[in-house]
Amino acid sequence: MSEETGLPPELEAPPEEVKAVLADDMHIATGTREPILEAAGVTMQFGGLRALNDVTMSLKEGEVIGLIGPNGAGKTTFFNCLTGLYTPTSGAVTLRGEQMPQDPSRVTEAGVARTFQNIRLFPSMTARENVLVGRHVRMKQGPISSLLHGPRFRRSEAEAKDRAEKLLAFVGLSRFADELARNLPYGDQRRLEIARALATDPSVLLLDEPTAGMNAQETEATRQLIFAIRDLGVSVVVIEHDTKFIFTLCDRVLVLVQGELLVEGSPDEVRGDPRVIEAYLGAPPEEIEAQLHTGANPASDTVEGES
Ligand SMILES: Nc1ncnc2c1ncn2[C@@H]1O[C@H](COP(=O)(O)OP(=O)(O)O)[C@@H](O)[C@H]1O
Ligand SMILES: [Mg+2]
Repeated sequence: MSEETGLPPELEAPPEEVKAVLADDMHIATGTREPILEAAGVTMQFGGLRALNDVTMSLKEGEVIGLIGPNGAGKTTFFNCLTGLYTPTSGAVTLRGEQMPQDPSRVTEAGVARTFQNIRLFPSMTARENVLVGRHVRMKQGPISSLLHGPRFRRSEAEAKDRAEKLLAFVGLSRFADELARNLPYGDQRRLEIARALATDPSVLLLDEPTAGMNAQETEATRQLIFAIRDLGVSVVVIEHDTKFIFTLCDRVLVLVQGELLVEGSPDEVRGDPRVIEAYLGAPPEEIEAQLHTGANPASDTVEGES
């Protein structure tokens, strides 16, 4: 147990030397603070249901944005629009000013990775293999060379394995490298999914409820992990219900209610905004205010929906 963070060693933030090596490998950081991922007036209509109405977001390089809002507000739908899973009914999504491809695998290649509200690992593959799957997006390997197992193939395989080890160390899962994903504790599966997403060398990482189902220690460890990811130069958008988690993690917070952006601002601005207190949860204002300040999870009765 660390004296500083109170976390057991396996949940400690990534060691500095692992961070340094990864940052070197991924060489993402530019430090320009330019907008990298932008959504302009995104509307998503499903038949008679308008799940998103005119939502605009601008994520800057090196920034961590939090996206909060009640169940069914459209948060996951927004991620699906950003990553080419859905084509917005209207509006535009751009990455460094270029239109986002309308195809999830090309979105990944372009440098946007995500995790899912419902964990999507390969349960019968080991932790290491799950990370390698993410890595293959980045392997410039022609089919012939793969077939012949030539030197180029062997070299890129070796590099992929090396990176997988580093990523497992980064998320604190080295000890589970050879374990089947389905045997990992739930919180570790979520961390493994993050490692797999990072294996694609993203400039932008979208996390859909990364702490769902986690205990307080695992949640704190995830907060530290996301700070470390930001330090690698990756820009992050996080969906979460846990307001304390979001307010202590993010540079900026967006509140989505019934498909519309209700409020956007710094954690302090959002925390104190009467519209958030009133509309976000629909409970008596005093009660919600108390929850927002103590960080109790006002949506703890949430059950995971399919998304
Ligand atoms: N593919 C879809 N077809 C029809 N309705 C959908 C689809 N995806 C999401 N929705 C609806 O859009 C609304 C927003 O859902 P979602 O984005 O999952 O909310 P959140 O992630 O904020 O809980 C919900 O009413 C949901 O039922
Ligand atoms: Mg959702």
